[in-house]
Amino acid sequence: MGVLTTAVLKKYFKSVCGHLRTTSLLCGDTFFANVCQLPAHRALIHRSLRVTIFDGSDANFELASTAREVTTSPIFIARGLMASSASAQVFVGNNLVEGYKASMNGDGLRILDHLPQIIERGAEALTPAEKELLKWVGVFFRKPTPGKFMMRIRMPNGFAKSEQLRAIAELSRRLGNSVVDITTRQQMELRGFTLDTVPEIFEKLRGVDLRTLQTGIDNVRNINGCALAGLTPHELFDASPVVHELDRIIVGSKGNPEFTNLPRKFNITVTGCLDNCTHCESQDIALVPAKKAGRLGFNVLVGGKMGSGGFTVASPLNVFVELFQAAAVVAELIKIYRDHGPREARSKCRFAFLIEEWGLRRLRAELVARLGRELPFQGRDMRGSTHADHLGVSTQKQAGLMAVGLCIPTGRVNPDQLDELARLSELYGSGEIRLTTAQNAIIPNVPADRVAELLEEPLLKQFSPRPSPFMRGLVACVGTDYCNLALIETKSRAIALSEALHSKMGSGVNPLTIHWSGCPAGCGNHQAADVGLRGFKAKIDGKIVDAVAIYTGGRTGPHATAGREILETVPCDESLPDVVAGVIQSYRFDVEAREHAALSDPLFAAAATAGLASWRFARELPAAAMPA
Ligand code: HEM
Ligand code: SF4
Repeated sequence: MGVLTTAVLKKYFKSVCGHLRTTSLLCGDTFFANVCQLPAHRALIHRSLRVTIFDGSDANFELASTAREVTTSPIFIARGLMASSASAQVFVGNNLVEGYKASMNGDGLRILDHLPQIIERGAEALTPAEKELLKWVGVFFRKPTPGKFMMRIRMPNGFAKSEQLRAIAELSRRLGNSVVDITTRQQMELRGFTLDTVPEIFEKLRGVDLRTLQTGIDNVRNINGCALAGLTPHELFDASPVVHELDRIIVGSKGNPEFTNLPRKFNITVTGCLDNCTHCESQDIALVPAKKAGRLGFNVLVGGKMGSGGFTVASPLNVFVELFQAAAVVAELIKIYRDHGPREARSKCRFAFLIEEWGLRRLRAELVARLGRELPFQGRDMRGSTHADHLGVSTQKQAGLMAVGLCIPTGRVNPDQLDELARLSELYGSGEIRLTTAQNAIIPNVPADRVAELLEEPLLKQFSPRPSPFMRGLVACVGTDYCNLALIETKSRAIALSEALHSKMGSGVNPLTIHWSGCPAGCGNHQAADVGLRGFKAKIDGKIVDAVAIYTGGRTGPHATAGREILETVPCDESLPDVVAGVIQSYRFDVEAREHAALSDPLFAAAATAGLASWRFARELPAAAMPA
């Protein structure tokens, strides 16, 4: 039979419902479509499509004649009919994931109903659709480790408790491979377990109030916030209740189908911290601290992203929201994206692309229309110009209490270290642990007179509160260890480079951020760091070798800038530390020169003070720093 193209159907559906997004599946002789989310439009389309449209009997179907040329099949709206046909042939342009979602009637969480059969059939029998759909419940098939899976655990705002760390340690030791990663979304990934243990892991995690739902693919990922929310004196207010409220709305204890059919992943950060400790500007939505007419609240930034074409800095939506309204406003923005976001080529599906198509004014107007009330224009941005990593010993706003931030090189921990972290948090603190966006952990609520004793604990020799300047801001994605897209190994290489830089350049250097991504996807945020490294394979002297492209000048915060590629191909061999040391020296020199120029230029200084100029510019590297 002929193939009914998505383009033809789209036109047809658009004639029924002005703004719907269509995805389609062709299974055997039957066409299934996943259409508009609005109940009224759904009903309309449902009614229309109950009839066979290609017999030309209904005058409304102006496209019928075009369509008849490509197929004679009847058309129906999808009603979960594909749920048991995971192996059916799927035609959805280039976006297979839309087809997988349609097979679950738009709700990937329904893969849970199939879990017992999937487990019974075994990991080898997983279909491509099931491998993707399992991510809705946080279970990740890992190609580099056949039969061994990864589970992503939600930890809103990076808040964790000692009993949760102990549960993860126990699961990792007994059912996993004793490798746990702390990620840049302030959550943990459990690795190396088999499919049959998933129900047991779910149950154990539920017992300590942890969930893995909606942690991958087209969902709202773990919601980020300042790791010291509620504790740091450098915050305008504690924004973590908003993060938790949002997590309840979007995920709750069982997952929420209202938010499980987004066009692509969705990142959110909500913070009241004035020290730019999270990467707000790379998020689809970021709420940043602001003041308006004496009231405290947030300015709303939208459309930031990493990957899908590189770092796009989020733009102000020109909206001020108070704390009590914030979650509702964010939820409505997500729904706008769900209903109108592009769903064709996956590299063009992020919120940023809808905003590019619509413009900020239309997005704002749609938000106001949906909320049914006007929104105040943005307030005064209260973010400072400093960047905190919350490592080391810092005072809390609670008198006599301190927070001790520990550097966990590239975020990788084993069960013994997790148990020890849990023990220390109970012995010295309140049993709380906070995870940061730089893959580190903080033990808060330590009485000032106990800090010295804590600093002597053996774990703090491994996870130092005073790391070297090259380790302190080190971030690395997963790399070839577990990620099938990785082109190079990242984590141990990143640590080796930072150690080499330390012995080469000493510790009298100001800390800087060094971020590694193992491929262009950019999960290590390499364009948001002082020095970024992106791995790839290069052919040098006829041999395929691991190499990196080097970026500098990446920055988040009020003057966010994407790091610029300055070296295209640097092999990951013994010359790498020399090259990076050269890059750092040259970069530092350049930053200082610009600061100096800015200070001696009254116009620039005035503009910078008014927030009109960024003191950091992307630049070309002088020849001296190029590799031989
Ligand atoms: C083409 C785009 C992308 C693809 C295909 C992709 C793929 C992946 C994969 C396969 C993993 C899991 C690796 C593992 O832990 O075993 C991962 C993890 C991760 N990725 Fe990406 N990624 C993409 C873009 C990005 C971007 C742009 C960011 C943001 C900077 C990002 C942030 C993360 C983070 C933080 C993790 C760790 C898990 C988490 O906390 O959510 N990814 N990504
Ligand atoms: S950047 Fe590439 S290698 Fe690293 S986790 Fe993301 S997809 Fe994998």
